[in-house]
Amino acid sequence: FFDAGGRSLYDAVRALYLKPVNLAVQHLGSSVPVNQTKVMFFLCLRSDNKVTVNFINRDGEKITVKGSPGDSLLDVVINEDLDFDGFGACEGTLACSTCHLIFDEEMYKKLGPITDEEMDMLDLAYGLTDTSRLGCQICLTKSLEGMVAKVPESVADIRQTKDGSS
Ligand code: FES
Repeated sequence: FFDAGGRSLYDAVRALYLKPVNLAVQHLGSSVPVNQTKVMFFLCLRSDNKVTVNFINRDGEKITVKGSPGDSLLDVVINEDLDFDGFGACEGTLACSTCHLIFDEEMYKKLGPITDEEMDMLDLAYGLTDTSRLGCQICLTKSLEGMVAKVPESVADIRQTKDGSS
């Protein structure tokens, strides 16, 4: 959650909450800064505003589920036990590209910056589009409410290709 895909969420929430929290702590007489990671973890746990996510599976079926802010789209697929064959094979370690998802242009622009590591892995995905991202790198925020994520028809697991066992 605190890695590449969550960076923009992390920065946004830190800017909103951490400074006032530290000021309050100082006001109460402590000079020890609040551990940022603990604050972020607490804030994410406290968040009960679920985000609606619509997946379009390979058959064209729309599946509507909810996830918590801070969850990646891979987390949502796992938590909701969605049956997208081969999806998320590397469990979010940016080693497979099987979590490839396609968005509409408007939603794509809201997804935040893409890292070089994600871009490198995306390049290996089947059916790459201009609005493709890796689901394990997209963290939910309220601004993504109602998002539609299309699961591509084919999936590529670069690890199997490297092994020659695809
Ligand atoms: S789950 Fe493997 S790159 Fe996202």
